[in-house]
This record gives sequence, C-alpha cells and structure tokens, in this order.
Amino acid sequence: MKARLAAFCSHGGSNFAAIADAALRGEIPIDVALMIHNNARAGAAARAAERGIAAAWVPRGGFPDDGAYEARLQELLDEHAIEYIALAGFMQLIPRSVVRRYSGRMTNIHPALLPLFGGRGFYGSRVHEAVFAAGMKVSGPTVHLVDEEYDCGPILAQRAVSIEDCRTPGEIAARVLVEEHRLYPETLGRLVRGLYRIEGGRAVLAV
Ligand code: GRF
Repeated sequence: MKARLAAFCSHGGSNFAAIADAALRGEIPIDVALMIHNNARAGAAARAAERGIAAAWVPRGGFPDDGAYEARLQELLDEHAIEYIALAGFMQLIPRSVVRRYSGRMTNIHPALLPLFGGRGFYGSRVHEAVFAAGMKVSGPTVHLVDEEYDCGPILAQRAVSIEDCRTPGEIAARVLVEEHRLYPETLGRLVRGLYRIEGGRAVLAV
C-alpha cells in the first residue's frame, strides 16, 4: 500500500520533483497525489504537469477570511484522500486546523541544521546568508515534523555537508539543495513506513 501525499510549494518545486521522482521510480512507498501552491508563477506547477500530478493553486489572498481558506485546503485534501503532507518551500503559514489534523504526518524541509538558523525571519536566501556570515564550516538540510511554531517540530533527519570552500551564500544554497533532494524522499519513505517514534519530544528512528 502506498501512502498518499500532498506537497505544498511556493517556488521552483525542486524538492517536490525529487520526492515525486523517487516515488515514481518505486524507491519509496508513496503516491504523490497532489501539489498545492500559493503562487501562480510557481515552477512547481509545470513540474506537476510534466509528471501527471494534480495541482491546485490556493492563494491565501483569494479568500475572504481564514475560515474559507482552511475549508478549501481541507476540501482538496479530502478529495484526494491525502494522508501525508510534505511542505517543500512553502512560504505561507499552514492553518492550525490542518497542522492538528496531520499531526505526525506533516513534514517540512529547512535548508540549515536546526535549531541553528531557523525560526521567524530565516527563510529563502536569508538562511544561507546568515550561515555564510557566521563563517560556518558545515551546513545542511533538516527534515522535521511540523507543529504549530516555525521550524520547531521534532527533527526526523539532518545531513551535514562541508561548506568550507564556499565563497558565497549562493554556493552554500546550491550545495545544500543537492542534499535536500536526497534527504527529503529518504526521510518521507521512513516516515510512511512507520520507522519513527516520538519519545519525549524527540523523533527516534527504529531500525
Ligand atoms: C529549499 O531550499 C527548501 O529547503 C526551502 O525552500 C527551498 C525550496 O526550493 N524551504 P524548491 O522550491 O524545492 O526548489
């Protein structure tokens, strides 16, 4: 049985594509059934179309209030029988009702080693600029469960990459992104296989 997953994206969607491709190759027991984006120009939409994955544009600003926005998200998730949500470069806060409903089944990827360089204000290129300014010698992606605060849920997986020879924040971003594309599908595969358990707020891999 494959787990039905929705990805939420705002921009290029390269992580979404990496997850979808790993699923299409049969490497993870996941069916990427839906991609929701909040930005009409998101490159993720073309990537969904190329792969025959349903896509829905759900801009928060297109709804009169939070309730109507939440209802539309819930409706789409129900319509596609979604069991797991992977946030992949989604720049909008997920409504509380959706976070609660998918507790333990919603993940995010952050392009730095949390809890460093995370939380409010650390998004997009700002993350890598801060890592660069701090003179860090390693960085790397973090995949975590989503709870009601920014970048705060239990960490499922991290991978350190050397950035010692990176000369710009952009070089760091590119190096970390390569690892994101490996780590996110692998981690989702483990999650849907039930290989994580939460102990005292920490995620423990049961292998
Ligand atoms: C990635 O670096 C991800 O970690 C961050 O936003 C970026 C999204 O890239 N949250 P893409 O849309 O997956 O190409």
